[in-house]
Amino acid sequence: MSKEKLIIAIDGPAGSGKTTIAKKVAKALGYLHIDSGSMYRALTRKVIKEKIDLDNKAELLKVVKATRIDLKQVDGKFIVLLDGENVSDKLRTPEINKNINTIAAVPEIRRYLLEIQRKLGKDGGIVMEGRDIGTAIFPHADSKFYIDASIEERTRRRFKELSDSGKKVDLSKLEKSIRIRDEKDKTRDTNPLRIAEDAIVIDTTGLSINEVTQKILKEIEK
Ligand code: DC
Repeated sequence: MSKEKLIIAIDGPAGSGKTTIAKKVAKALGYLHIDSGSMYRALTRKVIKEKIDLDNKAELLKVVKATRIDLKQVDGKFIVLLDGENVSDKLRTPEINKNINTIAAVPEIRRYLLEIQRKLGKDGGIVMEGRDIGTAIFPHADSKFYIDASIEERTRRRFKELSDSGKKVDLSKLEKSIRIRDEKDKTRDTNPLRIAEDAIVIDTTGLSINEVTQKILKEIEK
């Protein structure tokens, strides 16, 4: 693979700043940015809308396999199309957050998304972020990063993000929901969130988005 066509994997827990940072890194490199969490979010939205019983695995898989998810970059903005509908602004709801770990824990669903995600990266030139990118999706990625921050800092960031977009949130409830999601992401049987052995760990507590982005770009250049 030529030097310009690298695969960059960025993993980390909720609220670590992955999406903002991955976007900036991809922009600086002229690469495609893929937020793999948005795929899980889109599937969860569909399952909720269709009122599928989350315990009915056969029904769940039937719906998932009949779902089309497209990720596109339009005017520099990342959009998610769920069966052709732009749902980008409808994926960060408390209801989706509450149900997403159940969907993300189903091995068949993970395998299904793994294939789509690997295809997106087959020619390189991609920055993909999520929970299992460096460990399961691209174990041979050219550079791997694990981005973390204290729970307090991550809660503050999410709180600001939600407040800025006009949503009312209770700080302690938010912290609790992040803790629960972390725990579920780290303890599921299939491809849990963990640090890849060859990942560079960056604690972003107290660092600005630009500082983290520069750190990552410097590592990639090495
Ligand atoms: O990155 P995010 O917060 O939008 O991700 C939402 C959820 O999706 C996360 O809690 C677990 C799931 N997810 C996953 O299991 N694997 C990924 N690669 C990305 C997200």
